[in-house]
Amino acid sequence: MFSLKDKKIVLGISGGIASYKSAILARRLIDAGAEVRVIMTSGAQAFITPLTLQALTGNPVHTDLLDTAAEAAMGHIELARWADHILIAPASANLLARLANGFADDLLTTVCLASEASLFLAPAMNRVMWQNLAVQNNARKLLERGATMFGPDEGVQACGETGAGRMLEPEAIRDMLIDKLGIEPGDNRQTILTKPLSTSATESSAANQPSAYATHHRSLHGLNIVITAGPTVEPIDPVRFISNRSSGKMGFAIASAAIKQGASVTLITGPVALQTPGLVKRIDVESARDMHKAVLDNIPKADIFISVAAVADYRIDQIAEEKIKKSDPGMTLQLVRNPDILASVAAMPERPFCVGFAAETQSVEEYARGKLDKKKLDMIAANHVGQAGDPVFGSDNNSLDVYWANEGHHHIAPAQKKQVAAELLDIISERLTESRH
Ligand code: PMT
Repeated sequence: MFSLKDKKIVLGISGGIASYKSAILARRLIDAGAEVRVIMTSGAQAFITPLTLQALTGNPVHTDLLDTAAEAAMGHIELARWADHILIAPASANLLARLANGFADDLLTTVCLASEASLFLAPAMNRVMWQNLAVQNNARKLLERGATMFGPDEGVQACGETGAGRMLEPEAIRDMLIDKLGIEPGDNRQTILTKPLSTSATESSAANQPSAYATHHRSLHGLNIVITAGPTVEPIDPVRFISNRSSGKMGFAIASAAIKQGASVTLITGPVALQTPGLVKRIDVESARDMHKAVLDNIPKADIFISVAAVADYRIDQIAEEKIKKSDPGMTLQLVRNPDILASVAAMPERPFCVGFAAETQSVEEYARGKLDKKKLDMIAANHVGQAGDPVFGSDNNSLDVYWANEGHHHIAPAQKKQVAAELLDIISERLTESRH
């Protein structure tokens, strides 16, 4: 019993150094039972030969739109009709641009246009290219048209830079495809993950290791998630403000993990020095009231609201128009309460699944559960802050205790915030599914 049995997959390979991984991906898909036909762009052929893919798949590799012999064997329309799914890995910036704009200037883009098959894209490019607004807009356009994006992954790139842009490992792509097609993994997935390739010279032993993503079997595909992150800033006068130590790292890590799990993410953030994760729609705000407005504007389309921001509970009652002079020996600032953004969303009649955060220095469970009940949340994630050697605020690491009704509890062990974020999303996904039954 193979997870991709009888699935007809066109594997598109565009130009990029990551195309060497596509040979392993082809084998992984075949190992999982899929029938694979490969289309390579001219760019891809500069990195890897069609012969390699032909040997691995046992089928002729398609490269030219205007090749009469190839067209006579299996024409591009026939190939487009044959495919149940088209998976393009790597998908270069150029390929995304051509697809997003409906080009049909080579075999791969033409088959995509002519096919009713579902489209899956595993982008791979330099991190600055991936961040470029033009690339982000193209990727977003394709998502809006129903394509599914796998990755990109973060880490060291072939160009020597570090960031988001690497193609996901073949095993992770195969597992995400299996998830998206709604196939129950069964026991054979573990078998596939550990099964060595018999022949490929390009494969390293690391390629057989399941990546972090490969262990996630839940999906947020198609869900809209609104996340708040970072601190809010409450002005005193034109040069001074009150704020807090939140760096935004936890909220940004959740946004990034949610994109990887297939969600559409709106990230509303106070002032932070962080790069926007790819495909995330970011809205910058300063004060709690700005954040409240941005949340209310975006909440109607949200399935899930995750309130990670450290929102100032109070603001200055009267903001001085001019810089306050230090004429008196002391001064008193009159503060007034800010709106509780999370509680206001949770009180809506048509509300999304609401997840709060709590940063507590003591009695963590008691205070966190108190907020869960008082704000009428579906779930709360508590971090124990203020402990020696465990800063949480500004740190790359965290651990969480997640609470929900009826004594529900899950401990997320200390790890990098991006791993903690992925685990938290798995719990949210599970609880959301339960709440809908
Ligand atoms: O940004 P980092 O440096 O990575 O740090 C992450 C974090 C510690 C800030 C984060 O993990 C966290 O715990 N955020 C919540 C901080 C907090 O203590 O919140 P709170 O107890 O004041 O509020 C409880 C919940 O209500 C939170 O979800 C908060 O976003 C929300 N809230 C609070 C006040 C308010 N006026 N509006 C709100 O929406």
